[in-house]
Amino acid sequence: MEYKTLSVEGSQFGDEGKGKITDYIASHADVVCRYQGGNNAGHSIEIDGVRHALRSLPSGIYEKGVLNVIANGVVVNPFAILEEIEENFKGREKDLRLAISDRAHLILPYHIQLDGAYEDLMGKNKIGTTHKGIGPCYSDKAKRIGIRVGDLLDKDYLHERLETALGVNNKVLVGLGKESVDIEKLYSDLLVVAERLRPYITDTSVLLNEAIDAGKKVVFEGAQGSLLDLDHGTYPFVTSSSPTSVSIPVNAGIAPYKVQRVLAIMKSYMTRVGEGPMPSEQDNEWGNAIRERGHEYGTVTKRPRRVGYLDLVLLGYTSRITGVTDLAVTLFDVLEGVENLKICVDYSLDGKIIDYVPASAKTYAHCKPIYKEFKTIPHFEHRKIHSFGDLPIEAKEYLGFIKDRLGADIAILSLGAEREDTVTFKELF
Ligand code: IMP
Repeated sequence: MEYKTLSVEGSQFGDEGKGKITDYIASHADVVCRYQGGNNAGHSIEIDGVRHALRSLPSGIYEKGVLNVIANGVVVNPFAILEEIEENFKGREKDLRLAISDRAHLILPYHIQLDGAYEDLMGKNKIGTTHKGIGPCYSDKAKRIGIRVGDLLDKDYLHERLETALGVNNKVLVGLGKESVDIEKLYSDLLVVAERLRPYITDTSVLLNEAIDAGKKVVFEGAQGSLLDLDHGTYPFVTSSSPTSVSIPVNAGIAPYKVQRVLAIMKSYMTRVGEGPMPSEQDNEWGNAIRERGHEYGTVTKRPRRVGYLDLVLLGYTSRITGVTDLAVTLFDVLEGVENLKICVDYSLDGKIIDYVPASAKTYAHCKPIYKEFKTIPHFEHRKIHSFGDLPIEAKEYLGFIKDRLGADIAILSLGAEREDTVTFKELF
């Protein structure tokens, strides 16, 4: 059976403009599902000139008729998500079509304290996390001392789970010289949020499978990017979940064969926030100019992003692992008129040319980029572009090279912030 499912994922280090593309795709979808990460993500989308910042809510949230799902693989800060709902749906919560998995884990205040404490302890080797408690929450899940969204609905069990979690985490906090958490205070705060979240909590795997089997269009929205994947990213400078198609089955509770198409969102150049190697980084005027033109500052943390030339070694690596079938190229307008345009095509490592990404971050930090140069892409009228053939020759050369090297079709090209500036070359549903 052919299913109408689509994985939409960042193919770089996050911040590829996924929110906008997913929002665009959501307007044709029936269900949009977040399956990993938490409020470390910051998707910003612009609708009618107004910028909306979403953190945990799926990108289909503004589409009438779309069901938005937060699946079991997500980590949910119950206080933060209620604030986000309040910010976006004040006075019209009835318009919100949201389902949160009873199996998703809760990010609680002690996870945020621990995130900061671990980063401080690591000193110069820190990861540069978003300090949202993501790593400590997923660690508790793996340690089997996590508390799940569904636990909020059983008062006695919730207390038991808090006793277990804090029995361990309070000792850790005190050991690190931090204040321990008052279990009764947290318990009573959680009972309040539980009532507000109750209408949304359900077994989302059932909803997703029913929708998929009924031939509905279901979009799985990855947060962050493939290179921040806990297993396949540039470890240890990664997030604590797997933001790619390969993790959807376990993180959403569906069979692997139900994810058939993978749309990789690819920014026209590279950016990265936080620490970790980035061979094509341009910490110079070229990079500064792109940062300003592309507004490359974090949605969540406001940190300036590191900027570099597009790196097709990295993109080839992520395409192979996640099975990319189509590409959505974003922020292409930022490259217009830019001189010294290059793409990294290989690395040189200890005098040898290589086309792979070494597993060790230490070895990877020694890789030097090898570039192919491209002609400057002239300014062009975006709203006259309806097909690939309408693009200026220089743009076709740049994009054609990417397409051939990655063996995926360029399905979508984004040329500006508004929905009307997104051109579709290939229908995805
Ligand atoms: P954490 O996810 O907060 O644990 O952060 C781990 C790494 O992932 C850090 O380098 C963060 O900067 C990066 N990161 C987490 N979320 C995002 C995102 O949404 N966009 C870009 N980078 C992110």
